[in-house]
Amino acid sequence: MATAFKITSIPDPYAEITKRFGVEGDCLGASESELPWVPYGDKAAIRHMAFDVRGNWYGNVLWIKEPGMIGTHKHHGTVLMLCLEGSCRYLEYDWVAGPGDFITETPGQAHTLVTDHPDGVKLFGWMQGCAEHFDEDGNHLETIDVFWFIKHYTEYCETNGLPINEKLFMK
Ligand SMILES: [Fe+2]
Repeated sequence: MATAFKITSIPDPYAEITKRFGVEGDCLGASESELPWVPYGDKAAIRHMAFDVRGNWYGNVLWIKEPGMIGTHKHHGTVLMLCLEGSCRYLEYDWVAGPGDFITETPGQAHTLVTDHPDGVKLFGWMQGCAEHFDEDGNHLETIDVFWFIKHYTEYCETNGLPINEKLFMK
């Protein structure tokens, strides 16, 4: 195993331009004040982590706390998801995702997310574009995108006296 060391300087012809125009990375703590679990209905919550309003990207953890369902929706962007805990499947596919399994969803796909696991499921998702949601009869309910997620997060913070964490907004 390599000895731990701290890089203090490396050759970098772009150091000045990076310092001037770049953005530093960060580590956000998993606390309620920094990354709160925002209720999503009675049986689920979303931990918002990133909003990119230029590319319509958003990252979060979806936690469905018991067996349940996210209604039928159609994607107009790409979704990359990692199952952290529990399990989930889709009514339209024949696979079940468990911890460590990686899910991709692509523009044009329409499906219905279900968890049968007694503890539900936790999914980290990095998503792009909008998704249309429908009721059981195929009637359009709403279209969600990065601004839906920002509203969900900021309204919860403002209602509960929590600071809006500006670090979630990618510059
Ligand atoms: Fe989906």
